[in-house]
Amino acid sequence: MTDHLVIRRPDDWHVHLRDGAMLEAVAPHTARQFARAIVMPNLVPPASSVDAVRAYAARIRKAAGPGFEPLMTCYLTDGISPDEIERGYAEGVWVAAKLYPAHATTNSAHGVTDIAKIAPALERMQRIGMKLLVHGEVTDKAVDIFDREAVFIERTMKRLVKDFPALKIVFEHITTKEAAEFVTAGPATLAATITPHHLAIDRNAIFEGGIRPHLYCLPIAKRSIHRTALRKAAVSGSPKFFLGTDTAPHAVHTKEAACGCAGIFNAPVALEAYVRVFDEEGALDRFEGFASLHGPAFYGLPVNEGRIALSRASVKAPERVAAGPGDVVCYLGGQELGWRFEGPVV
Ligand code: DOR
Ligand code: ZN
Repeated sequence: MTDHLVIRRPDDWHVHLRDGAMLEAVAPHTARQFARAIVMPNLVPPASSVDAVRAYAARIRKAAGPGFEPLMTCYLTDGISPDEIERGYAEGVWVAAKLYPAHATTNSAHGVTDIAKIAPALERMQRIGMKLLVHGEVTDKAVDIFDREAVFIERTMKRLVKDFPALKIVFEHITTKEAAEFVTAGPATLAATITPHHLAIDRNAIFEGGIRPHLYCLPIAKRSIHRTALRKAAVSGSPKFFLGTDTAPHAVHTKEAACGCAGIFNAPVALEAYVRVFDEEGALDRFEGFASLHGPAFYGLPVNEGRIALSRASVKAPERVAAGPGDVVCYLGGQELGWRFEGPVV
């Protein structure tokens, strides 16, 4: 039995770091485990301009401390200018753009209402090699919430992949068997991130003994057959699947509310939560690929220098992290993790 794992330093290919006092409270947790992170732009107002994103990156560097590199993204809006997108990419301000279908999730009111409206931006991104990150859910209220990802593949994703054959697309935080199969069968330009929580919970967990607001996120966790398919994809060794926590902090009073926010805060225990899944699947030898190698390869970035260690150990996850707007409840808070993040190997 492997009790000690040393892997190249990993990156998180999907995080929400927020801003202000919340940013200051959560950024060190991501920076403790990861060298780089793809930072989501769903702020209020959305981070859509070169100036706004450059300033946001500076605030993140300050909050996270030395040794952490935020990889920034631009929030796609209906009217976004292809020239602005190209300028941000050329100046090294951002590496990708995020497509939120309007009203699909937290702070997505300024998202895209129709792909046709961003076609010039996508053409430009395809030409310059900038990546497209997709929140893959339809917003049609007539579609059941548990079907919104699968329907998005049919209505939008298939056409995106066909119409922009050279555009590199990340299908973010996939939650279904359909998405895992679609990405597996797709071209090399198509990849996906998978969260630790979607590898561990199914939709029953959200209602276990009562409603569990801290397990509510979007896309929502699905039936157990989908979790099984995601686990299979994650441990398959395929370079199309890589780590993206979707850590999404919200102050406790905004989660435990009549209309609670979507998002699971997993940054303090992200690697422990993932490695546990690989351990359960008998795939610890594939963990480094998923956590540290496949993401950089897809983004065309070098892998990190340095290594980190994880050990089998009895460790309890922290319950909460104090933040300016209120405490944030941690994923797996108070539970036994079975693994400990040991930090950098010197
Ligand atoms: O659960 C989620 N929370 N899903 C998202 O897509 C956004 C995120 C957030 O920003 O809170
Ligand atoms: Zn997200």
